[in-house]
Amino acid sequence: MDEKHVELLRSLGIKSIDKMNAKDSAYWIDRANSHQAIATQNREVYNVIDHTRGDGLVCYDLEGNEYLDLASGVAVRAFGMRYRPFLDFEASILDTVHEIMSNNWDSIPQVGLAERLMELAPGDFDKQTSLTTSGARAIENCMKSAMDKTGRRRFVAFRPAFHGRTGYALALTASNAKHKAGFPQGVDVTRVFYPYCYRCPYGQSVDDCNVECAEALREAIRVEGDDIAATVFESICAEGGFYVPPAKAVKALHDITKEVGGYFVSDEVQAGMGRTGKWWAIENYDVVPDYIAIGKAFGGGYPMGAAVGPRPLFSGTSRHSETFGAEPKMALTSLWVFKHMEDEGFLKKNAEKGAYMISRLNELKDKHEVIGDVRGIGLMAGVEFVKDKKSKDRDPELRNEIVKTTVKKYNLWTLAAGHNVIRWLPSYIITNDQIDEAIERFDKAVADCTR
Ligand SMILES: Cc1ncc(COP(=O)(O)O)c(C=O)c1O
Repeated sequence: MDEKHVELLRSLGIKSIDKMNAKDSAYWIDRANSHQAIATQNREVYNVIDHTRGDGLVCYDLEGNEYLDLASGVAVRAFGMRYRPFLDFEASILDTVHEIMSNNWDSIPQVGLAERLMELAPGDFDKQTSLTTSGARAIENCMKSAMDKTGRRRFVAFRPAFHGRTGYALALTASNAKHKAGFPQGVDVTRVFYPYCYRCPYGQSVDDCNVECAEALREAIRVEGDDIAATVFESICAEGGFYVPPAKAVKALHDITKEVGGYFVSDEVQAGMGRTGKWWAIENYDVVPDYIAIGKAFGGGYPMGAAVGPRPLFSGTSRHSETFGAEPKMALTSLWVFKHMEDEGFLKKNAEKGAYMISRLNELKDKHEVIGDVRGIGLMAGVEFVKDKKSKDRDPELRNEIVKTTVKKYNLWTLAAGHNVIRWLPSYIITNDQIDEAIERFDKAVADCTR
């Protein structure tokens, strides 16, 4: 960070900042620990990111170390850091009004974005959208709408599942007991295992699979009640461990939900927005959901989400709204993200580069006894670490060690998922050369940690 930025921070009232400590992550982590409730950061592994530098997949910490970023801000940075075309667009809308307050007044950017979502959302039926400021709120909008439309309050959710950390979304979440312990359950949930073929919860192998996971849902509904408002399903189970479900299971879960009159919600917050090579990851399974929930990359870096579902979403006005739901600038930004992805053919590119990335990861799987599974679609892949391929025993300690080694020694900014998985979730602008570079560093880190 240069002197100009230090001066700016000082002028804004940030106390005790100088040239020296502006290059000291430990100092700022200490200050962060004192004043910020810790969410999920692993402050032992990650230094403080320099917010004034970074280009594409290259980011820097305060000390000036350069990293290759595989996490893309957990799928938020579709185009990496300080993407020039985006910065140019942002500059071009600098003088638009920030706030119109969408609860009470309409604006053209917002209407345009809603219409765009109608075009892009899966399914040939009448839809509406509710624009939000986060993924959790997008999920909660889908849930409120499903409750409003069905008069029911029970949801089907999965183990593991991550749909957010507030109210109703938290009630569906189940990926780490710490997220939920002591917080009341907002809605009734019937929970079944997420389809996870590498470790089928029903002891089946891919060859003898009879979609037992879907049958388990049928049984759960029979025993617990068929008053299902909606089944809420991550189109790729993300935080829980990057599970890619088989299409036949997704179809069966969808069909069983519909049989009892419930809606099917696809959580596209992490896997959507073209990451898998299709706009919505659920499209990889040939299933048409009733709702999609969107977030993360949708806002081009601004806090935005959307629930898209059957029209009318709500039985009347004022059933839901948000003060900051897609303010004009945010809506314009989001429209730009869609347009730019189309103009530059990112869906095709993501599918191609993702296939390359996954094929290279599979080479590492063949090479290392501790890589039990590699799975993913497009630019969303998980690498699962085990003690050995035969036992498949999970090895969370090794996974943690590898994350630390990739970051600290090989300057590869990786992020864990689930108990024993590392995610490969790069920005869409990653090149094949960068994939090769990342593979080389990852390979070395795995070798170091298993020597
Ligand atoms: C699949 C999924 N759904 C919902 C959320 C919640 O999104 P937000 O943190 O924007 O509320 C997340 C966040 O990681 C997510 O990965």
